[in-house]
Amino acid sequence: MERKTTQISQAEVERQLTLCDDICRVTGQWADKPLALVDTYGCQQNEADSERIRGYLERMGFGFTDDPEQARIIVINTCAIREHAEQRVLGNVGALVHTKRRHPEQLICLCGCMVQEKHVAEKIRQSYRHVDLVFGPHALWKFPEMVHTLLTQRGRIFSVADEAGSIAEGIPTVRQDGIKAWVSIMYGCNNFCTYCIVPYVRGRERSRAPEDILEEVRGLVAQGYKDITLLGQNVNSYGKDLPEPMDFSDLLSAVNDIPGEFLIRFMTSHPKDATHKLFETMARCEKVAPVLHLPFQAGNDRILKVMNRRHTIADYLAKIRDLKSLIPDIVLTSDIIVGFPGETTQEFEDTLKVLEEVRYDALFTFIYSPRVGTPAASMDDPMSREEKLANFNRLTALQDAISEEKHAAYIGKTVRCLVDALSDDSRYDLTARTPGNRLVRVVGDKSALGQFKDVKITGANKWSLFGELA
Ligand code: SAH
Ligand code: SF4
Ligand code: F3S
Repeated sequence: MERKTTQISQAEVERQLTLCDDICRVTGQWADKPLALVDTYGCQQNEADSERIRGYLERMGFGFTDDPEQARIIVINTCAIREHAEQRVLGNVGALVHTKRRHPEQLICLCGCMVQEKHVAEKIRQSYRHVDLVFGPHALWKFPEMVHTLLTQRGRIFSVADEAGSIAEGIPTVRQDGIKAWVSIMYGCNNFCTYCIVPYVRGRERSRAPEDILEEVRGLVAQGYKDITLLGQNVNSYGKDLPEPMDFSDLLSAVNDIPGEFLIRFMTSHPKDATHKLFETMARCEKVAPVLHLPFQAGNDRILKVMNRRHTIADYLAKIRDLKSLIPDIVLTSDIIVGFPGETTQEFEDTLKVLEEVRYDALFTFIYSPRVGTPAASMDDPMSREEKLANFNRLTALQDAISEEKHAAYIGKTVRCLVDALSDDSRYDLTARTPGNRLVRVVGDKSALGQFKDVKITGANKWSLFGELA
């Protein structure tokens, strides 16, 4: 397959780093160490992008703060997946007018998926004039160049051209966590589900070279990371565009071969591309966590067809049965959309049937939100908001009951968990994750942080498990 994407050359990334060093010389002469605030909305892909933005900022000499009053530069990394996400961002950006009035030298930057939408970029241009820099996911690699221009000249910068997308290696990162890490293995999406904005704002599918991914994971393991999530919108189509094609299962095996005690997770998988080979690889690779996020979105074949998901529910259930026969204790999760245009309550009930059959450990449930420019946004949508909400509530009630039963089955068992954080709830000392990623609130010695430990499960509710270090 021809590679439609541009690889940003090493020389171009080097030039960005040199610009960071130039900026660092300037910021080094300021009276106080300059601080930056990076605020992230949306999915793990955005979290991973924000780690790169922080990496660049650190190299420019910035420290970090959560206080907009203290920040010399504010970066808001936005999400466009649903209307609610966009409204929240616009509200927060609007409020920064006052902060900027008090600190006129402050630079306000908006980036991410939402500003890659033409109508949003235009709205920011016209109505949010206190925003200095607007750049989409395609332009992230040249963030230093844009900051350099803003610091040396006056004016605003918009870098939101519509592109197929690029790959840049060698951007520094400042990670938010010392135990769990995200590793992007590919960018973009080719699927064009009819409700979804992602392919429009993130460009076409493009895979990082396997050697770059393996080197990054080796580095993380050497730094002591214990839980590594491979990221992509549809990881099952990894490698199709590489000069020497390699599939996701082969990549998973290669990551599994890296020495060390760590867990491998991945997301997201698309059912149409999830193969028997993937399930076998998961079963065989001891570091691959026994968990699969396999979104089915809706339980009715007519709706799946209009969503352009390109599989039927029978295909989906056959894959789940195959997977369960290979990994009986597999933890399953899914995304579901309620109220897709034209979905009747009877069709919605097919979604409930899938829940009863598969018995997911957890679900991420959404009410359909029309996105400008997607095919579904112009489909007939006669069902009232109240009716959609009633269906949504039936779905969550059913799942709550299933989650509670599944969690209760852990009580009395001892499970090897990764202790991943100190508890923010004073009744517990730590939080931990089962291999299937269920949250456990734990009583025990805080020195266990960052280690794999046996946890005796003593209680459960629909959200989490409770236990003590064994
Ligand atoms: N690539 C992933 C999902 C990315 S978006 C996949 O294909 O599964 C995460 C979830 O948001 C989707 O799975 C879907 O359930 C939901 N979503 C996407 N667009 C939406 C919309 N317009 N309205 C409501 N939910 C949406
Ligand atoms: Fe969106 Fe579908 Fe691509 Fe997922 S696979 S990002 S839902 S278009
Ligand atoms: Fe949102 Fe973009 Fe992720 S739209 S869900 S941040 S890919």
